[in-house]
Amino acid sequence: MCGIVAFTGTSPTVPVLLNGLRRLEYRGYDSAGLALQTGDGSLEIIKRAGKVAELEQILEETGKAHTSADDSGTKPALGEKDTPGAANTPFSQATTGIGHTRWATHGVPSEANAHPQHDCSGSIAVVHNGIIENYAILRAELQGRGHRFVSQTDTEVVAHLIEEEYAAAHEDLVLAVRATVARLSGSFALAVCHASEPGLLVVTRNDSPLVVGKTKTGAIAASDTPALIEYTREVYYLDDRDLAVLHENGTLHFFDPAGSAIVPTPVTIEWDLEDAERGGYPDFMLKEIHEQPRVVKDTIAGRYSAATGRISFEELALSPRELKHIERVIIVACGTSYHAGLIGRDLMETWARLPVETAVASEFRYRNPLVTPKTLVIAISQSGETADTLEAVKLARLAGAHVLAITNVVGSRITREANTVLYIKAHLEIAVAATKSFLAQVALLTLFALYLAQERGQLESGAVGEVYAAMEQLPRQIAGVLEDTASIISCASECGNAQTALFIGRGVGATICYEGALKLKEISYVHAEAFAAGEIKHGPIALINPEGLTDPQVQTPVVAMACKSATYDKMLSNIEEVLARGAKVIAVATAGDTRIAELTGHVIFIPEVPECLSPLVASVPLQLFARHIALMHGANVDQPRNLAKSVTVE
Ligand code: M6R
Repeated sequence: MCGIVAFTGTSPTVPVLLNGLRRLEYRGYDSAGLALQTGDGSLEIIKRAGKVAELEQILEETGKAHTSADDSGTKPALGEKDTPGAANTPFSQATTGIGHTRWATHGVPSEANAHPQHDCSGSIAVVHNGIIENYAILRAELQGRGHRFVSQTDTEVVAHLIEEEYAAAHEDLVLAVRATVARLSGSFALAVCHASEPGLLVVTRNDSPLVVGKTKTGAIAASDTPALIEYTREVYYLDDRDLAVLHENGTLHFFDPAGSAIVPTPVTIEWDLEDAERGGYPDFMLKEIHEQPRVVKDTIAGRYSAATGRISFEELALSPRELKHIERVIIVACGTSYHAGLIGRDLMETWARLPVETAVASEFRYRNPLVTPKTLVIAISQSGETADTLEAVKLARLAGAHVLAITNVVGSRITREANTVLYIKAHLEIAVAATKSFLAQVALLTLFALYLAQERGQLESGAVGEVYAAMEQLPRQIAGVLEDTASIISCASECGNAQTALFIGRGVGATICYEGALKLKEISYVHAEAFAAGEIKHGPIALINPEGLTDPQVQTPVVAMACKSATYDKMLSNIEEVLARGAKVIAVATAGDTRIAELTGHVIFIPEVPECLSPLVASVPLQLFARHIALMHGANVDQPRNLAKSVTVE
């Protein structure tokens, strides 16, 4: 969703801000803007509806761009005066500023609604992620006191409030921001600069991420680590309503909401700049799909000891005794993470013999769910910032449940809300469509299900070891699928003109289909729906176009998960049913299966794996299938329309 970058230092800020905003583009947005201290007590704001590239073009055309994103410490020539913030500093040479990419919530995407927003005098500029829930009341109050509003945004109230508080606090920006924050409800990450406070930035957050760090030439803040990874790997995460003050000499000061100085612990970012680059791939989605062998390997590494025959989760804050006393598990998540949760549910029930439910997080808290201190709630979120999942976590904590978070992002909000955190090892995932994080979540949940069964005495160590040994083969098997994609591409090409596609499977195959259909619809905009194959005769089979019996051009594609499994024969019958009604069946089947090839000419073969591990291999061709169809439609696979990577609003 929205993105924030703020920089103050001794090097030009335009390249740092633009570079950071480009790195945040993957989150999804519709407008972009910058505000810079250009000296003589003034700010210059430049913003546009549209992409960062369009903003850059304006800067180029108006001579305001600075070409290098180098943060080498070389002080630039600043023109007549070389003091940052001094009079007549050209925009391109200004050294303190804030930048933003906006994902519209209040007001259409437009120049007026783009951030930064400013106060009446144009001296205070604010960028904001999140939603100010009491903005309507505040706006009416401010208008009553004579403030003039120029946008429809909730954010603009923040600039006007700071304007009032700045006067009341005898022109102390830090006090003014703190007093303003005390009046806001909702979620926000804010970066503020004032024309009369050269080299100073104030940032704060509540229920919306913000990280701060020192660079070689100053200090930087951003709503997400990709924006600052080039400049520092050591970052500070703010707690709710804490403030950070960034000085141009790189000094950082932190304050709690009461104004007391605090010293947060720095956290080292584990992934590399390489993760934020395409690395020779045409898009991040393909790169991330290809990273999956490594991701699965890293996620399972070190969890099993051949010497003891046991799985371990040392970071789990639950004793073996407490684990034994769990009466129920509820998994909460959204989207792809929810699909991983469905797979986790089946494995836990099968192996640990516990009742397990997987709930869509956005619905969970509205249905008065049964959660007790003997419930283990597992919250899965790649980003760790999904508002729906976080609300479910809060409810579970209030009910006394132990909350175990499974996430990819160190320092994300979910890591602060949960009792225990398990990290998947996907590293930064940029493409909006979750791919490698899904496989990592499923791999971790598989291990956790084994662990739960082991601790509750439901699985012998021999059985645990057998599954783990099969898991160790997965990276090689996934790599095999990635090496031979000819059948995937050819099957996708067969479906290039389809308006709709159905996905059918049984057992875990149905869940693989839910995920496959989500991938297809979100990146290609082709309507796709997944069903348990046994259910199609109860309604969905009516969707198959009967004209497909005589005209292959209008056949409805049906993607069928037909790998060797306990329900294989029944699945073949379901395939026969749809073929008999004119469908074009694309089957995903186990290598060496000859029966399937007798039914359809469109088969994607994958290596044989135990059924319990099949999502970790069978999901991969569906990711590539969706990507290829999206490319045939000319879609941007990394940044599909209307979507955001982290969905931080409910
Ligand atoms: O970050 P999260 O795992 O909490 O995100 C949940 C969903 O928003 C996410 O999985 C979404 O469905 C993806 N775009 C799917 O590819």
